[in-house]
This record gives sequence, structure tokens and C-alpha cells, in this order.
Amino acid sequence: QDKKSNASANLKFNEIPHRLDFKHHVPEGYSADRVLSWGDPLDAFAGKFKPEQLNASEQARRFGYNNDFIAYMPLANDAGPGEGEKHRQSRNSEHGLLCINHEYTQPHLMFSGYTEKSSNRGTRDEHIAVEQQACGHTIVEIEKTPDGWLPVLGSLYNRRLSLTTAMNIVGVAAGDRRLQTNEDPTGTRVLGTVGNCAGGKTPWGTVLIAEEGFGGAFQGDPDNVADEIEARNHHAFGISPGNRNWGDYDRRFDITVEPNEPNRFGWMVEYDPYDPESTPRKLTGLGRFEHEGFTLVSKPGKPIVAYGGDDDEHQFVYRFVSRGVYQPGDDVRNRELLTEGTLYAGQFSEGGIGRWLPLLHGRGPLTQENGFRNQADVLVDARRAARLLGATPMDRPEDVETNPVNDCTYVMLTKNKKRKPDQVNAANPRARNTAGHVLEIVPPGRSGARDHVSDTFHWNTFLLGGNPNAEDPAERGAYGQQHTGNISADGWFANPDNVAFDQRGNMWIATDGCESFGFHDGLWAMATEGELRAAPRHFFGCPQGGEICGPEFTPDGKTLFVSVQHPADADGSTFDNPLHRWPDNDPDLPPRPTVLAIRRKDAGVVGS
Ligand code: FEO
Ligand code: CA
Ligand code: CA
Ligand code: CA
Repeated sequence: QDKKSNASANLKFNEIPHRLDFKHHVPEGYSADRVLSWGDPLDAFAGKFKPEQLNASEQARRFGYNNDFIAYMPLANDAGPGEGEKHRQSRNSEHGLLCINHEYTQPHLMFSGYTEKSSNRGTRDEHIAVEQQACGHTIVEIEKTPDGWLPVLGSLYNRRLSLTTAMNIVGVAAGDRRLQTNEDPTGTRVLGTVGNCAGGKTPWGTVLIAEEGFGGAFQGDPDNVADEIEARNHHAFGISPGNRNWGDYDRRFDITVEPNEPNRFGWMVEYDPYDPESTPRKLTGLGRFEHEGFTLVSKPGKPIVAYGGDDDEHQFVYRFVSRGVYQPGDDVRNRELLTEGTLYAGQFSEGGIGRWLPLLHGRGPLTQENGFRNQADVLVDARRAARLLGATPMDRPEDVETNPVNDCTYVMLTKNKKRKPDQVNAANPRARNTAGHVLEIVPPGRSGARDHVSDTFHWNTFLLGGNPNAEDPAERGAYGQQHTGNISADGWFANPDNVAFDQRGNMWIATDGCESFGFHDGLWAMATEGELRAAPRHFFGCPQGGEICGPEFTPDGKTLFVSVQHPADADGSTFDNPLHRWPDNDPDLPPRPTVLAIRRKDAGVVGS
């Protein structure tokens, strides 16, 4: 009980107000320093970013666009590449690797004089070549110095993953005929990753990155190239003839040439940041959909449980349970835990009752008659399988993460304007949900020691986003222990997206969409227990047009890394005529997506 009341009392910062301007904001007594921006060099010789010199090979040695998920992976000062175990155990909070997703590109903000055909930087094909290097992921060594957190240029660990990085496909669907292409008849080897939104970390020192909005990279009319099931599959991910022309540049993105290439995207990817030579793997066991991320619950001697969301309207929350059990230290075996196991979709029923429904071929409706030849079909078409099983269609599931203190799991549901009044359900109670909400999954067992392997659970509505004083009850936010709305004027928010927990079990929510409510996106922190449960306080605000992603604490809790994505993204904003030029305010530089390190000026624990 003491622990619970402490958790709420521990959030002591002075709230910042709702605002909408061209700066970022932190509470009094805090600093937010730039760590890396789009175009910054990763090697020792690349030099300062000059957008007028940008080409594909330059982009490949520089920080990518639209930074999203961040994993901080500690580095032991007495170990080298390949010694992940030593690094991980060091819990070093002053020296580590930052592992950062680059979700997507925005050519009108990247190239001066941009039109679809050309820009001052070159032709359409040259744009796409740059963009394929600006997507994906960055691994960069960083150090806390008297001048703040600085990247170590030229570090052996520094690496970019992009659309041209070779990756293996593993798990049950690997090699299936639906994953085979002319370039790769084995169906086990694919070039690159795209749409990398959020992710997760494993206790064996690897990083998970999600493939979310991959459909936009593909062009072609699904109805002309595929059987009914494949056509439905391609339509479901937004592949259409009107998409941008990556397929004209790189034929594998044209589904009339490679109808199976999209089936090689939409997975979770696992890689080892401590081994710069390692080949990333796409994990088919975690299903194929618009992955927001997957986060793990690992308990010695128990299966690994991983939770994730499919970020689209009326899609599902998923859980994976490994076949093998987690044995701390046995990394050779642990590294295979995510390749074999069972995927489940969530069913949230009236009265706060929930069930996990297994996606297993041959069980219930998942049969040949319904177009599932085998388990590979069930995983490739996980959305269709989950719907047939009776999983609950949700309001765009984003991050799903477990609180390390109370051991409950929290689901960020960002919004769903498409939900009609006759489609509301207990867990998604608002038609035309503009503000989003947060659910709490309570697996059986006592606080801090719950059974995440159980196929049944309880759930609660943790909070409803939106203004607690909104006139329309359908838009009214609900916060606090009894959902009384008794919070500060700046404590409310909308559109929860990413979430992180500090070591005391406080929840930190990053938003994507508050500008439609009149103020910046940002971070809100709150307790999950005690008197101040679900009563948010406003901690960070983005420059206008930006969204905040990837909150990530160092193990000591003294640094909070955040990604500011697409700053100055607004109607009419371009490279040459941007809404603003954050963070550089340099007339030679456009607005740049940027990772910030937030710290307390007195070097204390963030938020306490
Ligand atoms: Fe890329 Fe689900 O936000
Ligand atoms: Ca985003
Ligand atoms: Ca997101
Ligand atoms: Ca989002």
C-alpha cells in the first residue's frame, strides 16, 4: 500500500500549460537538449548536414527522417561489440546506444523546390533513393558529457537499417509460398523495413521494431493482380494505384510485378544492436498487420508474453505467448523465444471480462473453407483470422505496455472517427471517438505478480481522452480515480499514442493529435494507483505541427529521451516556406525531426 501512495506523491514537477507555438516546452527546472536531428552525421567524416548536398549515399551515413520509437541500450565501458550480456547488465545510464525508428518520409519538407517530378536536389528517382535511406532505423552510440548527451561519431556500433538492408524472415510463415518472390524464391530473405513506428526491448539485449504503415510504399491495383484473398489482403493495407510511385523506381514495390512482396512487410523485426554485423529478423510468429509495437513481460521460468496493437480503425489488440520459457542468462535459447509460440487476439466483453482467443489453424473458423490453408495463412492474414474468431474491434490500438510495478497492461487507443453509433461496445464506448482512451488489462493474481499467460483477464477503462468540461457527453474526457474530471486545467489531453513507465510505476503518455483540440502534442504523466490514479499532469509540449514519440528513460531515471516527429508539418508548409525552422532556427535548414534529452537541472530523477 505504501508503494502505491508513494507512486502518486512522487510526481512533483510544475505542470506546463496547454500552448500552441513554435517551441518545445518543459517544466521549470528542466532542460531539453538536442541529441540528434535528421541529417546529422553518424560517421567521423560526414561533416555538418547540408540539405543542398543530400543524396542517397549521404543519407545512408546520416540520421534518418521522422524519428519515432527510442530504445536506450546501456554500454559497459569494459566490453565491446558482440558482448551484449555484459553491456546489458551494466545498466550504465551515462553511456549507451540509442536505437531509433524512422517512421516515414515527407519529401515536400526534405527537398527544396519539391514537386513530385523534381526538386533542386534532382529527379523523382533521386528523391525516392534518398527516402529509402531516410526510412528504417538508426543505432548510434551516445555519451553523457558535461555538454549534454553527445553522439560518438564513427563508433563501431553506429549503423543504419534502411530499405536496402538484408533481413531474414523466420518463424512459421517463413518460406511459405505467399512470401516467395522472383528475387527470393526461398521466401526467407527480404531487403529492408519500412513504416517503423514503435517497438520494444527484450531482456536478452535485442530490440524489436514494428512495421506499421507499409502499404503506402506499394503501388498497383490489387483487383488486377491477385486472387480474392490476396486482393482483400492488399486492399486492407491501403495498396492502390494512386499510391506514390516507388514501384516505378523499384519494381518490387509494384504488386503487378511482385504480388507477394507486401506479404514480406507488416511484421515485427528483431535485431541485436550490440552486434553491428548481425542480420535483423522478421518474426512471423507475432502476426502480420499494421504493427504499432510489441512489448514484453519476462519472468524467470515462465513463457515470454508480448503485447501489441494493430493501429487501424476497428483492428485488434494482440498477445503472444512463447512456447519455451525464459531463463535469464541462457541467451542462445532466449533468442529463439519469439520464433515459436501462440498469437492471440483480445476480446473485451461487458462487465470488464476479457479473453485471449488463439489464432491457430484448424481451430474454430480458421480452416480451409475460410481460406486458411495453413498456419502461415493465419499469420499473414492475422486481421481476418482475429475478426472471424470474434475479437473486439478497437479504436486504433497504439502502444500496449505493462507497468513494472503493478503488473497491469495498458492499451493506448488513439481515436476512431469511423466508429458508428451501432458499433460501440463496452471497451470502445464512444461513437466517432475523436479523443481516444486508455484501457487497463488486469491479469489474474496480486499486484506486481500477475499471470500474463492466463487466457482470461479483467479490464477497466483507465481514462477517456478529451476535455473533461466538453458540453457533448460523447466528447467529454473522464479522468481520475472515480472519473470525476477533477484534474488541473492543463492535465487533460487527447489521442494517446506511445506510453512509457518510470521505475515507480508512473505512466507517461505521448500524444498524436492534440492540435485539433487547440494545443500542442506532448507528454502527460500520471500515477496508476492511489488517490491520483489517472489524473494526468502536463510535462512536455511539442513545437507546432510536431508529434511526440518514443519516451524512453535511462535505467537511473535521470534522462528522458523523446522524439519530436514532423515538426512544422501543416497545410502549405514546405522546405522553402516552412511554418517554422525548429530546432535550428537557421535560414539554411528546414524544420528537422529531432531527438531530445530531457533532464532535471539539479541532476535528479525526472518527474520526482
Ligand atoms: Fe505510427 Fe500508430 O502511430
Ligand atoms: Ca507517427
Ligand atoms: Ca505511434
Ligand atoms: Ca499515431
